[in-house]
Amino acid sequence: MLTDKRILLIIGGGIAAYKSLLLIRLLRGAGAAVTPVLTHAGAEFVTPLSVSALAGEKVYTDLFDLTDEAEMGHIQLSRVADLIVVAPATADLLAKMAQGRADDLASTLLLATDTGVLVAPAMNVRMWEHAATRRNVAQLAADGVRFVGPDAGEMACGEFGPGRLAEPEAIMAAIRAALTTGPLAGRHVIVTSGPTHEPIDPVRYIANRSSGAQGTAIAAALRDLGADVTFVTGPAAVPAPAGVTVVAVETAAEMLAAVEAALPADAAVMAAAVADWRVANAAGSKMKKDGSGKAPALEFAENPDILATVSKGDARPRLVVGFAAETDDVVAHATAKRLRKGCDWIVANDVSPATGIMGGTENAVTVISADGAESWPRMGKDQVARKLAERIAAALKNS
Ligand code: CTP
Repeated sequence: MLTDKRILLIIGGGIAAYKSLLLIRLLRGAGAAVTPVLTHAGAEFVTPLSVSALAGEKVYTDLFDLTDEAEMGHIQLSRVADLIVVAPATADLLAKMAQGRADDLASTLLLATDTGVLVAPAMNVRMWEHAATRRNVAQLAADGVRFVGPDAGEMACGEFGPGRLAEPEAIMAAIRAALTTGPLAGRHVIVTSGPTHEPIDPVRYIANRSSGAQGTAIAAALRDLGADVTFVTGPAAVPAPAGVTVVAVETAAEMLAAVEAALPADAAVMAAAVADWRVANAAGSKMKKDGSGKAPALEFAENPDILATVSKGDARPRLVVGFAAETDDVVAHATAKRLRKGCDWIVANDVSPATGIMGGTENAVTVISADGAESWPRMGKDQVARKLAERIAAALKNS
């Protein structure tokens, strides 16, 4: 429940603004109070009357309304909230936020606030992928702004890709996570997850069987303890959790770049099954049979080791956790891997086919640290995730 919580909801322009009405209903249903702020562009899509009727409160639209003595000043308006939620956030609003501009009520509130800010972007896919928006998002994330979405899918403008406003239920999950005062509140944790895809040509790739289930469960467990999670995921079978910042990548090189862009962090958990090798002679166009019956020869180059790079890098998080999937001599191999890669803990598991762990719902892990090896009983991947998240919270407690 969100009883006693007040959300200042800024509704930007865009066709997705209608979903903010559903969000208001969910917030009110969960017991939260909603102070709505409608930008001029937002008012082109939803009416002030419907917003205020659902919120049960006055809707604010204009900066200069607030200069009236009888009104609440904008500084105060931005501070009485427990959280500011911007949904939908347009490319323009993100740009203003990143630059610290204050030329209307919404941007002024965002600049004047000392409260947490959660942003749910919605825009055309090209605008979302534009270098300028990438810069603005990276800047805002570095400033501590949380993100939920955007989702990928068909858009109102007829294009397809990331840019759709996250569903109201996912925004609710992110709001709950942002308001959690768990032991990891205020901590930034990077989690890598899923496989990587290494292209052979534009239509073929090399991959592995990682489902992303364990990494996803870990990200959700860290979120539930209040962490601000950046979830860097390869093309996984299971969907990314709500309430975390999702960075979707394909290759190991992209994963390393995304992790480095997400630093600094208090902790990093590298649960991804990163391909050790990429195809060095990947073709720029589809490889064709030439009729000779001769198979093409693939050449491989070693991928960067993300875990080792982060563990040995200048911006090393205080706690770095790696995984080791082994089929024999699990503890010996994983102990050597911890030292070789320079991480603090290795979560080792036996992925021999007989264990049914790879692709299954359970895991039996041994956690290896400088203090030795500790074997946990076989349990659900969600339970492993919760136990690991609690360990991480305990390790970061006194820093
Ligand atoms: N890892 C990584 N980048 C890579 C390879 C692996 O970050 N290029 C990380 C994984 O996310 C995991 C850990 O390193 O946390 C162990 O990966 P694993 O593939 O088991 O180790 P390898 O170095 O490949 O060792 P080996 O092949 O000998 O098992």
